[in-house]
Amino acid sequence: MLKKFIKQLREFWRINEVPNITETNAKFLKDLIKIGNYKNALEIGTANWLSAIELVSELVKNSWKLTTIEFSTPSYLQAIENIKKAWFEKNVKLLNWNALFLISELEEIYDFVFIDWMKRRSVDFLDLVWEKVELNWLIIIDDVIKFSEKMKWLKDFLRKNSIKYNIIPIDIDDGIMMIIKEKEFLAFNWEKDYSKEQIKDNVKR
Ligand SMILES: C[S@@+](CC[C@H](N)C(=O)[O-])C[C@H]1O[C@@H](n2cnc3c(N)ncnc32)[C@H](O)[C@@H]1O
Repeated sequence: MLKKFIKQLREFWRINEVPNITETNAKFLKDLIKIGNYKNALEIGTANWLSAIELVSELVKNSWKLTTIEFSTPSYLQAIENIKKAWFEKNVKLLNWNALFLISELEEIYDFVFIDWMKRRSVDFLDLVWEKVELNWLIIIDDVIKFSEKMKWLKDFLRKNSIKYNIIPIDIDDGIMMIIKEKEFLAFNWEKDYSKEQIKDNVKR
């Protein structure tokens, strides 16, 4: 039943050119969740909810959950419909906000983070999300081969801060970056183009 629904969604969004994760990638992420026994996942970039359905279909097997953030209201509304059709309301928190302004306000700590949003802001994201991830848990960034031009800053940032990563070519034309959070930082070595205070102000407004 769920497989049929995912297949329908995939076909519909393929026709409408939504950049959903591929089946191969979804399978890989689900296997990681299974092996790693992850309990509390965070996704940035829900779109219509295809990747979230895939992720939560694995998380739900152990009553675990997903928080996912999307700033486009039409996509968020479609996602709400899809989540209901897949019967996953209890296991998903769907947030309609700009993740750049929301992440620092999240009160939970996550063990599995999947980033599938504005590639050129990947460094901003890592800076924000780092304190929301448990030590030794996993951060995954999608589309790092396809958009490698936009990833130069990220790689520079990782090198400057001695953060280890792996790039895995999951698909024919793309791959993911895997980062295991091995250490805490008091401050990262990089120049930001915003301040955390600005972000907090923006959330309050
Ligand atoms: C590649 S799509 C996500 C696809 C989805 N993960 C899937 O595989 O089904 C990227 C999504 O990120 C959203 N997005 C981009 N920047 C964002 C931000 N700053 N905050 C929240 N969502 C954002 C876009 O609106 C878009 O729907």
